[in-house]
Amino acid sequence: MPATPSHPNGAPTARQLAESLLAFWADGGVDAMLLDEAVDRIEAGKAPPPVRPSPAVAAKAPPRAIDGLPDVSAAVSQAQQLAAAAHDLPALVAAIAAFEGCPLRYEGAASQAVVYRGDPAAPLMVIGEGPGADEDAQGQPFVGRAGKLLDKMLGAAGLEGRVLITNTVFWRPPGNRTPTLAEQAICAPFLERIIALVQPRMLLLVGGASAKSLLRREEGILSLRGRWLEWRSADGSQDLPALPTLHPAFLLRQPGAKKSAWSDLLTLTERLDRPDRPL
Ligand code: URA
Repeated sequence: MPATPSHPNGAPTARQLAESLLAFWADGGVDAMLLDEAVDRIEAGKAPPPVRPSPAVAAKAPPRAIDGLPDVSAAVSQAQQLAAAAHDLPALVAAIAAFEGCPLRYEGAASQAVVYRGDPAAPLMVIGEGPGADEDAQGQPFVGRAGKLLDKMLGAAGLEGRVLITNTVFWRPPGNRTPTLAEQAICAPFLERIIALVQPRMLLLVGGASAKSLLRREEGILSLRGRWLEWRSADGSQDLPALPTLHPAFLLRQPGAKKSAWSDLLTLTERLDRPDRPL
């Protein structure tokens, strides 16, 4: 950046002060400016770019009514069509990467869609909230500090190599805010397709944003965690036992809560190795 002229009396100019403050924040890792409330750009009509489902899809798939959400039916219909046409995980990853219907793609993601990592035939699917900065940069979910803790806990519970890890949304929400229900609804057909292709025996729902969206529940994660609940796909054709647990990012801030998360993992491994135990 070219040097900015100083104030004639030698005091820093307003611009120099602003630049110095921005540099201070950037050094501290602040990479986004957020308002207190997320701006609903779908509602505001600013993003995403218009999604035009093919006439065949518009005729076949009735728009999914989602109470209280802005009208995301065109984006959801297009996601349903693309997801249904993907017959394996590589095709699904390519379809998600090309999908322009989720506003997060334009708002938060600096580089790429982040879909999954792990074993495509895993008996357990771990579903987090959404990618952060490290995931956005590397193209894989849970590869930052929280991901390292997650891997350590899964490893200690004997689950290493037995999981596929993904998220409720596939692009980083700006400033790591919680994804909105509308963003989760747009990504849901892809997430359901991942579940259909992998056919895990059970789901581990990591954090409140994941548990509430997949289980369509209002309660917070502290009341949902550790309880076996049923996940059901939007069309009712798939269902699986699902166990909500605490998010590793929360555990990094509240190490005292690790005990509860560990107890959830033990509950899960016991059931995974004894699959016919009823809910
Ligand atoms: N937190 C999540 O919920 N998912 C990630 O992929 C990374 C951090």
